[in-house]
Amino acid sequence: MIAKTARSGPKTALITGGTDGLGRAAAILFAERGYRVFAAGRNHERITAIDQVARERKVSLEAIELDVCDNGSVERGVAEVERRAGPVDILVNNAGIAIAAAMEEISLADLHKQFETNIFGVMRMTQRVLPEMRRRRRGRIINMSSISGKIAVPITGAYAASKHALEAISDALRLELYPFGIYVVLIEPGYIPTSMNRNAAELSSVYATNALKSPYAGVYQGFMQSWEKTRNTAKDRPEDCARVILRAAEETPPRARYAVTKRAKVGIVARRLLSDRAFDKTLKNQLGLDELREKLREQSREHLPGAATAE
Ligand SMILES: NC(=O)c1ccc[n+]([C@@H]2O[C@H](COP(=O)([O-])OP(=O)(O)OC[C@H]3O[C@@H](n4cnc5c(N)ncnc54)[C@H](OP(=O)(O)O)[C@@H]3O)[C@@H](O)[C@H]2O)c1
Repeated sequence: MIAKTARSGPKTALITGGTDGLGRAAAILFAERGYRVFAAGRNHERITAIDQVARERKVSLEAIELDVCDNGSVERGVAEVERRAGPVDILVNNAGIAIAAAMEEISLADLHKQFETNIFGVMRMTQRVLPEMRRRRRGRIINMSSISGKIAVPITGAYAASKHALEAISDALRLELYPFGIYVVLIEPGYIPTSMNRNAAELSSVYATNALKSPYAGVYQGFMQSWEKTRNTAKDRPEDCARVILRAAEETPPRARYAVTKRAKVGIVARRLLSDRAFDKTLKNQLGLDELREKLREQSREHLPGAATAE
């Protein structure tokens, strides 16, 4: 089946972070479905690898260099897509990074970096394509959120803050653009194995290195143990997520949000149904925070008599 526009050619889809992970799987699926796909990224090896995939599969898939954190790069990249294929019909704001650290410890520079990619990058791309979508009264913006857009777990606070912000931006945008016939959709995946884990480890290495000496050592440890469990039980693959993104691109009207993975579906419903107290309790159990609190109290009693008795 060929995905077509009113101007009769194939629909143009631009996917940021389309050179790896979830974005790459979506780029390949969209191209196989008949879209003219532009997969955007920064890394030259990955860009070349996408061109190779396109040749092998004989699909309309082109990789372009585009850094969502750079105004000039976004302008050049989108202009290049428009020059080759005309206006963007579907923008998938997928490029994203994660920095893992306790909120007291994360540097403000890293907090900026987290938001620069996951929020300002999305805004740069969206503001660049919207005037043309509005003029044509048509288009779709698909924003890659996460289960972290609904649930903030210790050590993932900065990443979760960026995804919560993305949820709010998308909710506002969805209604602002409704009169113009432009759809805004959120994708909310749970954990799916990609390079993101390794990339996040690199971006967070300074915090991981210092974790043992940190006052939050036990929290980091609880988080890592729980994260290992999540990783070891992950069943979904990037291709599963790609199918949901395609559905979000084609269902008319689309839903406001699509959860991906069983864990995300269950987690999001639980967050909605449980009180803060009850939800905290499940996280405290998962991360061993009650035991940790008891241990810290013990230590305080030993070292600072009287200090840890107040609630
Ligand atoms: N995997 C999961 O478990 C999961 C779960 C929930 C949500 N998500 C979200 O899904 C999205 C994709 O995640 P993923 O797992 O596929 O990550 P990934 O494997 O690390 O891929 C990230 C992609 O983004 C690109 N990218 C990073 N920074 C960029 C920038 N400044 N400009 C342009 N491209 C940039 C990377 O390419 P270059 O490095 O070449 O630029 C790469 O193609 C993210 O928004 C993430 O938050 C992922």
